[in-house]
Amino acid sequence: MNANQPFRLLGLSGSIRRNSHCTTVLETLKEKLAGKAELTIFPLNDIPPYDPDLDAENTPPAPVAMREAIGASDGLVVISPEYNYGMSGVLKNALDWASRPAMRSPVKGKPILIMTASPAFTGGVRAQHEMRETLAGMMGRVIARPQVVIASVHEKIKDGRLVDEASVTFALAAVDDLLAEIRLLHMAEGAGAEGAGA
Ligand SMILES: Cc1cc2nc3c(=O)[nH]c(=O)nc-3n(C[C@H](O)[C@H](O)[C@H](O)COP(=O)(O)O)c2cc1C
Repeated sequence: MNANQPFRLLGLSGSIRRNSHCTTVLETLKEKLAGKAELTIFPLNDIPPYDPDLDAENTPPAPVAMREAIGASDGLVVISPEYNYGMSGVLKNALDWASRPAMRSPVKGKPILIMTASPAFTGGVRAQHEMRETLAGMMGRVIARPQVVIASVHEKIKDGRLVDEASVTFALAAVDDLLAEIRLLHMAEGAGAEGAGA
C-alpha cells in the first residue's frame, strides 16, 4: 500500500437490526477516525447461511464481496451483541464464510480488534471469548489488549451516535492499538522483502 494513504479498516457488525447499537458504535468510530483511518462498514444482511455445497458450486455474491473487502483491508474491527452468552449467529455465520478457503482465507494473518456492546451491565463480555476463539481458528490476529465492552449501550447513544465520552475514548484507544499492530506488520513485511532482496 501507499505509505501516505490512511489505513483501510473494515467494520463487521454482528447485528443487522436497523437501529443496531453495535452498528451505531461502528458508525461513530468511522466518523471519529476520519483522516486517520478509513473505516468501511460491510453490512452482513445479505450473507446466506453457510453451505459448503453452495460455496463449492457457485459462491453467492455477498460472501464473495465480503471476502474481497476483508482481503483488501489492513485490519478488521468486529463488534457483536451478546446473544445467549455468545456472539450473534449472524456474525458466526459470516465468519464461517470468511474462514474459507481453509488455511488461506482472507482473515489469515489479519489484525483484528473485537468489541461487544449490550444494554446489560455486562456489556456483552461473555461473547468475547467465543469471538476470539473463532477468529483464532481461522488464523486471524486478534490484538491483545483490555477488552472493549460497552455496557448499558442504549443509554450511551443519542441521535444515532455513541455519545458517552469515556466509551468513545476507550474504543478509539483500542483502534489506535489496532493501527499500531498494522504498522508493525507492514514494517516487518517491508523488512522481510528487503532481506529477501539482499
Ligand atoms: C436472541 C437474543 C439473545 C440475547 N441474549 C443476550 C445475552 O445473552 N446477553 C446480553 O447482554 N444481551 C442479550 N440480548 C440483548 C441484546 O444484547 C440487545 O438486544 C442488543 O441491543 C442487540 O444488539 P444491537 O442493538 O446491536 O442489535 C439478546 C437479544 C436477543 C434478540
